[in-house]
Amino acid sequence: MNVIVVKDREQGGQKGFQVFQTAYQNGAKVFGLATGSTPVTTYEALTKSDLDFSQMTSVNLDEYVGLAPDHPQSYHYFMQKHLFDQKPFAQSFVPDGLNDDAEAEMARYDQIIADNPIDLQILGLGQNGHIGFNEPGTDPAVGTHKVKLTESTIKANARFFDNEDEVPRYAYSMGIASIMTSKHILLEAYGAEKAAAVKAMIEGPVTTDVPASFLQNHEQVTVIIDEAAASQL
Ligand code: GLP
Repeated sequence: MNVIVVKDREQGGQKGFQVFQTAYQNGAKVFGLATGSTPVTTYEALTKSDLDFSQMTSVNLDEYVGLAPDHPQSYHYFMQKHLFDQKPFAQSFVPDGLNDDAEAEMARYDQIIADNPIDLQILGLGQNGHIGFNEPGTDPAVGTHKVKLTESTIKANARFFDNEDEVPRYAYSMGIASIMTSKHILLEAYGAEKAAAVKAMIEGPVTTDVPASFLQNHEQVTVIIDEAAASQL
């Protein structure tokens, strides 16, 4: 893992942008995208840049089950607002949270990933070490799956909803196996509340208890963290 420590998330966004820019210049065509507060500064830098994604493909990591694409807390909506409105892609895939047929949705999304191999995948990090919505205990060999969110993730994500009861209990997420097929992975994490997960991801054993620790087995991972998130290293 190539670990880069920055002062804050603003600087992290600039570095994240540079990783995108380099991948772009090297011919990347498919970008794996993430939601959450972490990638926002990178997306801001992308929207201000002159990079053109109109011939590119994006594939998002995850989506809440039950939320329509125009629901303000859906990940579809998040991507539209933070990136796609300003930088449209030729095609953008996000799991369909309204598909009640989980088996069909999982198969459909796995096919999308197989048809569009990801050149650069951006990731955030859950406080419990999750990536995408791959919670601790997830079998690293599975592809897209339906996830029952843990209490800690529901609590952590409640800040985006009016109250905790409104946070969906399930999500569709790319699996760790799908994430690991990306050529290059960029993980960003900011803030002291991520410090323990960052330490476990980088220095701990590779274990299903910390889904992000599987990234130690990937040959091209760039980690951008601020000083607070690096404080336990
Ligand atoms: C959610 C998302 C993850 C994200 C994590 C951290 O659970 N499914 O992809 O990495 O939250 O969120 P944040 O970046 O807001 O800290």
